[in-house]
Amino acid sequence: DYIYSAVMPQTVTALTGSCVQIPCTFNISNFEDKREMAESIYVIWLKNQSHYDSTESFIAFNSSENIIRGFSDIKMTGDLNEWNCTTVFYNITMNHSDRYYFRLEIVADVFGPTFNPNTANSSDSSKTVKIIVRDSPQPPELKLNKPQYVEESTINLSCSAEAPCPTQPPEISWSNIPESASITTQLQEKPDKTQSLFSYMTFKASYKDHRKKITCTATYPRNTPNDSTVEGNVTLQVLFPPKETHIIITPSVGTNVTLTCKTKASPSNDLNYTWYKRGEEKPIAWRKKINLNRTQTASYYCTAQNKHGKQSSEDVQLTDDSQSGFSHLVIHGCTGGLFAFVLLSACFFYCM
Ligand SMILES: *[C@@H]1O[C@H](CO)[C@@H](O)[C@H](O)[C@H]1NC(C)=O
Ligand SMILES: *[C@@H]1O[C@H](CO)[C@@H](O)[C@H](O)[C@H]1NC(C)=O
Ligand SMILES: *[C@@H]1O[C@H](CO)[C@@H](O)[C@H](O)[C@H]1NC(C)=O
Ligand SMILES: *[C@@H]1O[C@H](CO)[C@@H](O)[C@H](O)[C@H]1NC(C)=O
Repeated sequence: DYIYSAVMPQTVTALTGSCVQIPCTFNISNFEDKREMAESIYVIWLKNQSHYDSTESFIAFNSSENIIRGFSDIKMTGDLNEWNCTTVFYNITMNHSDRYYFRLEIVADVFGPTFNPNTANSSDSSKTVKIIVRDSPQPPELKLNKPQYVEESTINLSCSAEAPCPTQPPEISWSNIPESASITTQLQEKPDKTQSLFSYMTFKASYKDHRKKITCTATYPRNTPNDSTVEGNVTLQVLFPPKETHIIITPSVGTNVTLTCKTKASPSNDLNYTWYKRGEEKPIAWRKKINLNRTQTASYYCTAQNKHGKQSSEDVQLTDDSQSGFSHLVIHGCTGGLFAFVLLSACFFYCM
């Protein structure tokens, strides 16, 4: 009784104009003995049909004399002596989308199993591979280690792009990179032995990164006129107490003015504003805007608070309008005096 099995990914996604590697290993009982008895060993990849029939079957690859059908090139890169049947299919076109069956020929008449899920003693579908061909690559997968960050916590971003063709892997680039970010990029094997290019970006969360959209771009080289570029993006959510709290006075002149307490905070929907007059303990108002008259000289400030903290603005000074009127007069007076002096001097020189 023979036991035979092969392990390969159930599906691989290939890109037209590129290649696709099928990672593959097999196991056969008494392989060494069989190899001793055999004249030769070669492999066959059958397209679409699991049933091996010398006249009916579409043999895409026969490694015996490197016979290739329907493909421009196929190479077995695995070493059969190491139970490795890894194979690369080149110059993929749309009509290569299909299920492929691996068959080992140990001749003459020693053993010839097709690694087929439909045979009685092998119900495992991982013994065949389905190649799914796409004209454009899948966008890279961009992941954050957390949905939200507090300030100074570490943000870890990972961007992964499938690399079905190891000789033409994609390139990953980032946009909107924070200053303190460090990036490492490497090819990694997934559990099914297919490869992906992973790029990791790490940086400390700053409130300035809140709502920042970070994009990861993967570019796939291909044997077609244009490379393919696909991207993924995420928007950062940083939680922070009020920052840059300041007061805006409108209008800039006039007796009746509105003071607005401006701030940046996250979240900003639970913001509480409090107004104070300098020198007085008690708040004068609890809202974003207040209306005041410039009837007396006084300083005001506001505080903004969310669940992460609180910040006070600088003071703003409102001066009595009559005083500012006075200063206007002084400025005009000075300008007038200067003008008169220049005129007199000119006259003096002219007369001389
Ligand atoms: C594979 O190729 C060899 C050499 O041409 C040939 O003898 C053999 O019959 C082929 N195998 C199959 C299954 O077609
Ligand atoms: C697949 O399509 C290409 C052209 O796109 C053609 O040259 C080739 O013969 C086709 N192969 C098969 C197996 O139909
Ligand atoms: C099988 O061969 C391929 C190509 O040489 C190699 O990359 C892979 O690591 C091998 N797999 C194992 C399990 O040795
Ligand atoms: C000042 O202006 C606000 C609106 O801009 C108005 O509601 C308020 O009545 C005005 N107050 C005075 C004293 O004119």
